[in-house]
Amino acid sequence: MMAAFMTEFSPRFREIFFEVYLGLPRQGPGSRTCAARALGLCRGLPEAPAVLDLGCGTGGQTFQLAELVPGPILAGDKHGPSIERLQRAIIQKGLSRRISALTGDMADLHLPPGSFDLIWSEGALYSIGLKKALKVCHALLRPGGFLAFTDAVWRKENPPPEVKAGFDLDYPDMGWLDDDAAAIKDSRFQLVGHFTLPDQAWWDDFYTPMETRIAELRGKYAGDVYALSVLDRLAEEPEMHRSYSDFYAYEFFVARRPC
Ligand SMILES: C[S@@+](CC[C@H](N)C(=O)[O-])C[C@H]1O[C@@H](n2cnc3c(N)ncnc32)[C@H](O)[C@@H]1O
Repeated sequence: MMAAFMTEFSPRFREIFFEVYLGLPRQGPGSRTCAARALGLCRGLPEAPAVLDLGCGTGGQTFQLAELVPGPILAGDKHGPSIERLQRAIIQKGLSRRISALTGDMADLHLPPGSFDLIWSEGALYSIGLKKALKVCHALLRPGGFLAFTDAVWRKENPPPEVKAGFDLDYPDMGWLDDDAAAIKDSRFQLVGHFTLPDQAWWDDFYTPMETRIAELRGKYAGDVYALSVLDRLAEEPEMHRSYSDFYAYEFFVARRPC
């Protein structure tokens, strides 16, 4: 949740932030099981669909997608070091013929319109505003193509102040499930289906490894008051989730550009 507002912090904050985040299996909630479920909603995809993974981070879901669908995957993120890490992993895994990685802003990737059968984006479309992102995806998909994405949504009124403050910093326009469904419809997509990520998808590949990494770095930075304060700040997010996850959710949406 901290990825967007983190840009306002000092270079040292950013350095420690990425030291925590970049080594995690994923940089947001999600799981292979959820990816498979969302993919199951994309009925009628070509046998080897052309896939674009927007805001791919270091590629946690990109590699899962490569296991779940045949076909070429282009993974893009605006954060150069994440893409460099992904490129190294692609080579290590021998997947250079399946996956390409690109550094760039999803709002302006200079890709030919109508060139993808499936656009995937976990926890990233909100970065440029959901409505704008939906417009970008609509243009990049061929008619009949699918968009599968996750987005944070409110699910209970009157969140505690720390929850509200956290999301106000990172995602001030965060809405409710119905708001996203309306945005999808207004953007000339058909909503095919949606489901809420289970709590396990927050912990297994994200918050549990994050807490382990923070604990390791507390050792590395023992005596460094600033670094420890950054780690304390980063540790608040999983702690908040432990206490207040009933106020918000990550929803997986699958939509289709009509033929
Ligand atoms: C919460 S992380 C999710 C990463 C990955 N999809 C995952 O679930 O592990 C959001 C990602 O979106 C990327 N991002 C933010 N704004 C972007 C933009 N305008 N264009 C491309 N990527 C962007 C960030 O660099 C970050 O890697």
